[in-house]
Amino acid sequence: MVFTIATPTAHFSCFSAANETLPSSLRFRPPKLPLFWLWQKVKVGPMSVSPMGFGTWAWGNQLLWGYDEAMDTELQRTFNLAIENGINLFDTADSYGTGRLIGQSEKLLGKFIREFQGQKQVRDNIVIATKFAAYPWRLTPGQFVNACKSSLERMQIEQIGIGQLHWSTANYAPPQELALWDGLVAMYEKGLVRAVGVSNYGPKQLVKIHDYLKARGVPLCSAQVQFSLLSMGEDQMEIKNICDSLGIRLISYSPLGLGMLTGKYTPSNLPRGPRGLLFSQIIPGLEPLLNSQREIAQRRRKTMSQVAINWCICKGTIPIPGVKTVKQAEENLGALGWRLSSDELLQLEYAARESPRRMIQNIFQTR
Ligand SMILES: NC(=O)c1ccc[n+]([C@@H]2O[C@H](COP(=O)([O-])OP(=O)(O)OC[C@H]3O[C@@H](n4cnc5c(N)ncnc54)[C@H](OP(=O)(O)O)[C@@H]3O)[C@@H](O)[C@H]2O)c1
Repeated sequence: MVFTIATPTAHFSCFSAANETLPSSLRFRPPKLPLFWLWQKVKVGPMSVSPMGFGTWAWGNQLLWGYDEAMDTELQRTFNLAIENGINLFDTADSYGTGRLIGQSEKLLGKFIREFQGQKQVRDNIVIATKFAAYPWRLTPGQFVNACKSSLERMQIEQIGIGQLHWSTANYAPPQELALWDGLVAMYEKGLVRAVGVSNYGPKQLVKIHDYLKARGVPLCSAQVQFSLLSMGEDQMEIKNICDSLGIRLISYSPLGLGMLTGKYTPSNLPRGPRGLLFSQIIPGLEPLLNSQREIAQRRRKTMSQVAINWCICKGTIPIPGVKTVKQAEENLGALGWRLSSDELLQLEYAARESPRRMIQNIFQTR
């Protein structure tokens, strides 16, 4: 895959001699031109992050993503490529990983950080955004703080960048919700996390938790929701407006529609497992959108994935595409350093509205 990077970044100086001491399987060749300038980093609470992060749900998930431990070397190369090119935001969760592999995504991230041989400053600037599941047995603030301590232990790091509440229990167990919010407050006050965020919160719940935390002296730095050309309904736009008015960063998860917006899947070429079943229901109704993405990509000499990710950036969000290989990370890095025009944004949004199918919403998403 050939990808073009249009604008420069200051990060290639990070490519260090230490790379030469790595086994050849862990070495990489940085692209020739930088991807974004330092001042194009985005403020999230007290931290500065790259305009795009990478998601690691697949790292440890056999059921949905076909993870195998044999992939770990490739994942480590993917991680190294990302940070050497200025990506410093990584999203994970304590629930990521299936069966005996639960927590594997956090473990791998911790291992990759420890084993990174580049500049210390690059390593120190990494921001891990992890999510703590609102499991029914996490009923007290102390239990939520313990969840945070377990994540720190799995990653073997001293502090988490963004500690996020994975979902709200407002729909099915409202009394639990307050304990979890107090848990966020406690982990922030203890310095276990630099900032706190939420995930799968709808507009109403977002305002509620923001106000609650504010009253306790804790700023809410981020809100993570499914946000993409396949998931851009009224709720998403309302959440974005609320985020803007309250100074919260919106982090877009599944910006590639779990892979559907890459253009590589078709009704006759579906991924294995549950994703294949889901895609078979949605892809046949995506022609207007996929055609529009393809047309813009060809005209711009970009790829469909780059167009989908760039759309999220142009909407003022921080996308966190999931990556499983160096090739995918390289391609997704090419979403940085340029911007779709306002006409192209309109064309894509029109095509998305014309497409009869949408992504299904997360069952934990609240109003
Ligand atoms: N808060 C939440 O509840 C929540 C929910 C979902 C996700 N997330 C976070 O958001 C992150 C991203 O979302 P996601 O992983 O669900 O979906 P996504 O980013 O929409 O899609 C990622 C998948 O698309 C494929 N892909 C990525 N780049 C590609 C490229 N350049 N070319 C071809 N294929 C490519 C890969 O899968 P294949 O190679 O298998 O096709 C990859 O795993 C997650 O990793 C996770 O950190 C959070």
